[in-house]
Amino acid sequence: MATEAPAPTPAPELSPAVVLQWRSAGEPLIELLTRAAAVGPVCVLRLGGTTAALLTDPQGVQHVLARHPDRYVKRSHRLRALLGDGVVCAEGEPWKRQRRFLQRHFTGQGIRRFHRAIEDAARGAAGRWEAYARTGEAFDLVEEMRWYSLDVIWRALTGRGIDPSTQRELQTLQSIFAALPVLPGQGEQPSLAPHVARIDAVVAHTIEQARQAATHSMPTQDPGLLHTLLDAAAEHPEYTERLIRDEIVTLIVAGHETTATTLTWLFLLLDRNPRERALALAAGPRGSAARTASLQALLSECLRLYPAAWLLPRHAIEDDTVAGHRIEAGTTVLSSPYFTHRDPGLWPEPEAFRPRRFLTGEDRPTRPGAYYPFGLGPRACLGAQFALREATALLEHLLPAFVPTLHGAPPGAAFAVTINPVGPVTTTLAPDPAA
Ligand code: HEM
Repeated sequence: MATEAPAPTPAPELSPAVVLQWRSAGEPLIELLTRAAAVGPVCVLRLGGTTAALLTDPQGVQHVLARHPDRYVKRSHRLRALLGDGVVCAEGEPWKRQRRFLQRHFTGQGIRRFHRAIEDAARGAAGRWEAYARTGEAFDLVEEMRWYSLDVIWRALTGRGIDPSTQRELQTLQSIFAALPVLPGQGEQPSLAPHVARIDAVVAHTIEQARQAATHSMPTQDPGLLHTLLDAAAEHPEYTERLIRDEIVTLIVAGHETTATTLTWLFLLLDRNPRERALALAAGPRGSAARTASLQALLSECLRLYPAAWLLPRHAIEDDTVAGHRIEAGTTVLSSPYFTHRDPGLWPEPEAFRPRRFLTGEDRPTRPGAYYPFGLGPRACLGAQFALREATALLEHLLPAFVPTLHGAPPGAAFAVTINPVGPVTTTLAPDPAA
């Protein structure tokens, strides 16, 4: 008797996608995305001529960013006009080579070479705060945090603290960020050329200085990552003058605005939750493992509520199925740590600032893809360890010594390429009477 062929396994049923579009020409992107996040794990968006899909489901996010980065690629990166072929925008084999080369300097072991640079910058910031506290001078917290994070990355790159004229020139980055589209291919790319030319001039001058320093002196301290790149050019011809420029600008941009906004948000959250500051300081003496863990928990919870890189776009290069939904080739797939981190189905009381989630493990989902402020998969943040070290070092110096008073806390967040508090955040300081 002939045996019957087994029945073919039915294809998994696909849920029909909910499709949203702009309510009106002036609707802010964040409002459209908030409506989309409420729909479910995947929501399709028709944005003029393009189709996008917002993903909030941890498994879907894992699928796109970590499991199938070959199907979901970075394309027409929003920052390409500024960053060129640096590691953030590069793709394929060049990206692999560049990432491999930089990676070893950004592991836990690799960043040890930057510990002194970070400590020097944190001490510099503490010195400025002492002066503000003494004189009662008001300052803008947003600017102050940018100053610190720019100083750190500049020291890591060049071995020197940032000088006022370089700092002034690099402020032009703010004009560039303000002009960038939040989504790839959204609107016309405005002419950034004059601003980019100013950045190019700063970097060209710095490279020239580094070359001269290398031929004229024997540096006794780490001359910075720029020297490492210049040395690499001798052995790796792909490190052309242009690529060295692109990599330097990439590290300045990726490495400072994200950390600066995170630190600003943390001071704002502590202003609204003063008990959390006291608890973190009471965890143990300065430098103890318990104190460090508490400071890191403050940062982790801050990055949950305000993941600086809040929207991670990818371009689907083939048809696929994600979380039971069809994704067509050509779709812009948007993973958003901001929405996943605030999903009440994953995070109890998601709007509350509760650093203890990260100390006790309670009220914190452990599913991969539920928490990813530094991204996921092969294109996850290169500088995560560096950023955490830099932020913790600043908190070690400032939190025990000062209680900032924030005058007129900002009304909300601006959802640009990073999530920024709507500044300025005018601040005055008093030394902590308990310190
Ligand atoms: C709190 C601070 C930071 C946050 C929240 C953050 C977040 C992220 C995220 C989410 C990504 C992935 C983007 C994507 O998948 O499209 C990323 C990529 C990257 N980050 Fe960070 N970052 C921070 C600090 C830094 C620092 C300090 C550096 C360098 C010193 C850095 C360098 C980079 C680079 C080079 C990439 C691109 C990696 C690649 O494509 O291979 N970041 N960052």
